[in-house]
Parts: sequence; structure tokens; C-alpha cells
Amino acid sequence: MSTQSNALDAAGPQAAWIGQLWWLTLWLCVFVFIAVMAALAWALWRSRRASPELSPAASAERGLRLSVGAGIALSSVLLAGLLAASVLTDRALANLPLDDALAIRITAHQWWWEVVYDDPRPDRVFTTANELVIPVGRPVVITLQADDVIHSFWVPNLHGKKDMIPGRISKIQLRADREGTYIGRCAEFCGLQHAFMAYDVVALPVDRFAAWQAHQRTPAPEPQGASALRGRELFLTGSCMLCHAIQGTSANARRAPDLTHFASRAHIGAGRLANTPEALAKWIEDPRKIKPGVNMPSHFLPADDLAALVAYLETLR
Ligand code: CUA
Repeated sequence: MSTQSNALDAAGPQAAWIGQLWWLTLWLCVFVFIAVMAALAWALWRSRRASPELSPAASAERGLRLSVGAGIALSSVLLAGLLAASVLTDRALANLPLDDALAIRITAHQWWWEVVYDDPRPDRVFTTANELVIPVGRPVVITLQADDVIHSFWVPNLHGKKDMIPGRISKIQLRADREGTYIGRCAEFCGLQHAFMAYDVVALPVDRFAAWQAHQRTPAPEPQGASALRGRELFLTGSCMLCHAIQGTSANARRAPDLTHFASRAHIGAGRLANTPEALAKWIEDPRKIKPGVNMPSHFLPADDLAALVAYLETLR
């Protein structure tokens, strides 16, 4: 599976439409640039050869008017063509078939993404963070909102940008037609860690998506071993549970990412670090060193407590 972030390598119909418009605009602009440069070169070449005259001949005056008129007409036609292409692209984007669409709700926070998979049955709703897993070939309707400042949702391989504005709910519709991991980014400056506000969009075949979804709905597994058990005790009696939730335990806060299946995610800190036990230990110890400005405070714990906490979090597969 490839990991990529490329607006011109469409993995779904929405990005393909936008890509076509981009290429059309590029080639038209290239054509206009070459035509203007050629006309300029021709005018310079002629002006050197022409003898200075106070009043140009009537035929030259007519020729000038004709070429200026032709230039205006051609520019208008090209601009009208681009306008029509933009409107048609916009329509095509809005016309994605949405039968059997998957409903996801994403809330942007400084600087992470809360991802809720909706379901008519409340017991089947589940929450994850900084990762969007979607089935290949099935449309997805994502409801977007922001918690604090303006952010922008952007997965270049799948769709264009969509602003997320506090107090306003917007929607984006997309479909991935190719299996793969695509990188999503925040595309609106939102503060100190705007550059490190990324997420993985993982498009899985339908059966693997169903298995992932079923697993995400289960509560966290019971930790095995003394260290992991001690880690859970530390988590539930320390400050972690004031912000994080782990389903199946008494931790139920919503201020920070839900950690129920944290160990199954590829990254820590919204794309900041690869999710390894070593990176996790560094993150817990001093997140503000790795991502200055984050809300998570530093936890300078005794070494065995830190190891126990990491051991516990690693059981959250
Ligand atoms: Cu969130 Cu930029």
C-alpha cells in the first residue's frame, strides 16, 4: 500500500474532476502566455524596422483595431470557457451518487482531528482520532465542524479543500476507488502547530473495512501482565483520564483523542511521530517539546511508571 499526498493522482471521482479542471486551466494559460509572448516579439521586431511616422496610414490603423478586437474576443471566449468548465466541475462534484453512504463526523481541534462514525443505533457509534478509515468504492459523507478556530479539511488524492468554521456545519462527499493510505492535512493556518495537523486516510477493501469497523466498536481489551495492569491503574488514577477516553474503562473525557484502539493507529500527535513504544514514551514525557503549544501537559514520571503506562497503551490494539 502506498502513502501519498498528490492532488494530480486522483484516487476517486472528486479529485479526478478537480484534476481535469486544473489541467485544462494550465494548458489554456500556457497557450495564452505563448500567444502574448509571440505577439510581443512580433511587435518589437516590426517596430525596429518601421520608419517613424507621425500619423500611421489608414490601413495600419484598421489592422491595429482588428487585432485588438480579435484579442479581446478570444480572451472573452477563453474566460467564458473556463467559467463554464468551473461550473460544470462544481456540478459534477455535487452529483456524486450517495446510495448507501457511510456517515462520518469530523471535528477539528487545535491540533488534532476527532473522528466519529455515526450509526442509527447509538451502541454502534464509535470514535477515533487522526485517522479516517473508509471502504473502497463506497461513498462517504463527512460532516465537518471546528471546535476552536478555522481549520480546513484536505485530502489531495480524494477531494479539494473544505473550510471548517466554528459554529458552522458543512459537508464533504467523497469516494476512494483505489486501496491505499492518503495523507490528509489541515489547509488553513490555525496556530502554532498548523503544520503538524495531519491525518491518515486509509482506504480498505469492503471486507477489511467491515472487520476494522467491527473491531473499533469493541471496548478496549483487558490488559495482560503486571506492567500493563499497573499502567492502566496509573492511567485511571492520574491526570490522563481527565482528557482522554478509553471505552470499557472509567476514562470518558472528550477533550483529547479517544484512545480505545490507540495502538492500531499509525501515528502519534496528528501525524507528528510514528506510533512506536519509544516515540510514545517521549511523547508522554514531554509532548510540548515535540509539538510546542499542545494542550497535553508534560509528565515526568519515574522510569518504571512510564514503562508501565506505555505497556498499557500498547495493549490498546
Ligand atoms: Cu488546523 Cu491548520
